[in-house]
Amino acid sequence: MRGAEAVLSFVDLLGTRMVRKDRRAKAYRVPELDLKIRTERTRREARLLHKAKLAGVSTPTVYSVDEFSIIMTYLKGRKLGGNARELGAAGKVLASLHNSGIIHGDFTPYNIVVDKGRLHVIDFGLGFFSSRIEDKADDLITMLRCIENRDAFLSGYRKCKDYDAVMRRKSQIEMRARYQ
Ligand SMILES: Nc1ncnc2c1ncn2[C@@H]1O[C@H](COP(=O)(O)OP(=O)(O)OP(=O)(O)O)[C@@H](O)[C@H]1O
Ligand SMILES: [Mg+2]
Repeated sequence: MRGAEAVLSFVDLLGTRMVRKDRRAKAYRVPELDLKIRTERTRREARLLHKAKLAGVSTPTVYSVDEFSIIMTYLKGRKLGGNARELGAAGKVLASLHNSGIIHGDFTPYNIVVDKGRLHVIDFGLGFFSSRIEDKADDLITMLRCIENRDAFLSGYRKCKDYDAVMRRKSQIEMRARYQ
């Protein structure tokens, strides 16, 4: 498995299948910057996987972290589909993250694993803590650009306590983009 950024491999830990996510050096980056990006994203991802779990969102459990890699539980399943029930559930998940001050940074169907109707969230390497409406709106827009049935997603996202403010900001951001 290879993501856009990291190399994923399976490892066996006491008979349990785990995933190792390695951030390898990128030749096109200045070496010092490359090092900084890889360690920063690895640390961020490990921290946020844990914080999201505390917020009631299912994520892989982190078993170990070092400078450039994380070993976490393997989640079987498939990526988020387009049916209304799943999209509504994904909207609720994003609302839970935002209500806990977590911005995912790359909330797309590829970073949501569905198994037996349950949703799990992965790939927090671009995530951060923020309670800013603008950050929540950006996070929301990323997902809405990937799906067709936006109303289904938004019906779940209504659980976000800043829903109205986020929706207003979303319209402003979209207007800005249109007239640029
Ligand atoms: N814990 C996990 N269990 C099962 N599959 C996983 C797990 N973590 C990652 N994967 C799989 O590996 C893919 C890439 O992982 P991830 O999204 O974390 O890395 P990435 O390099 O940022 O990828 P991208 O930016 O391309 O989405 C995921 O889309 C998913 O299919
Ligand atoms: Mg990903």
